[in-house]
Amino acid sequence: FSSAGRKRSLEGKMVLITAGPTYEAIDPVRFIGNHSSGKMGYSLAEEAAERGAKVILVSGPSGMVVKHPSIELYRVTSAKEMMAKVFEFYEHTDIGIASAAVADYAPREVAKEKIKKKDEHLTIELVKNPDILKTMGEQKRHQFLVGFALETENEEENAQAKMQKKNLDMIVLNSLRDKGAGFRNDTNRIKIFTPAGKKEFALKSKEEVARDILDCIEAEILK
Ligand code: CTP
Ligand code: CA
Repeated sequence: FSSAGRKRSLEGKMVLITAGPTYEAIDPVRFIGNHSSGKMGYSLAEEAAERGAKVILVSGPSGMVVKHPSIELYRVTSAKEMMAKVFEFYEHTDIGIASAAVADYAPREVAKEKIKKKDEHLTIELVKNPDILKTMGEQKRHQFLVGFALETENEEENAQAKMQKKNLDMIVLNSLRDKGAGFRNDTNRIKIFTPAGKKEFALKSKEEVARDILDCIEAEILK
């Protein structure tokens, strides 16, 4: 038990977490990004550290700060940078949790100079970013891998398909159906899927959601 009286149930484990958005540069002053706050990933990092884990947190641009001394924070900007940092640590990872909202596409070229305003229309060609979690799944050996899914239609089917496609051990579905759930909110309503089953949770703070997720992971790895 830690000083706070908590059980150090993840002592000796290395937990690798991705968090936040990625920013994909268009020119020296502009980017493509999204509204992810990083809050879910940072809450998971704090909770895992409280439970005794060594935590590697690879975060895109986020205003969040880390508190626990067992969290090693690496700040990255783009999906490619996030990918490179993740694979520096993947081999030694016991539990990988991908909560980052990675941009699916990035501009093919980054303009060297600020793009000047000219015509009525401007086309920016985008190319697919690497799928970090899918690559982790392809290279999985001893790791327990957890992904997130945010869907607006057929949410359960799509989440389960994502779990299979990315070779995951667990996927957390973020429900958008509730006001107060998802991006930029402090609360989430989740469903957790494993290949064997499904668990539904109430609308909770992201700190509480982090506890539920880690409880489920622990139950699975101790099976
Ligand atoms: N993910 C990732 N790298 C990417 C895209 C997604 O690591 N380039 C991870 C996310 O962190 C999340 C999971 O994959 O854990 C699912 O992300 P999501 O955006 O829901 O799925 P995609 O595979 O990108 O499919 P789509 O956006 O078309 O639904
Ligand atoms: Ca996506």
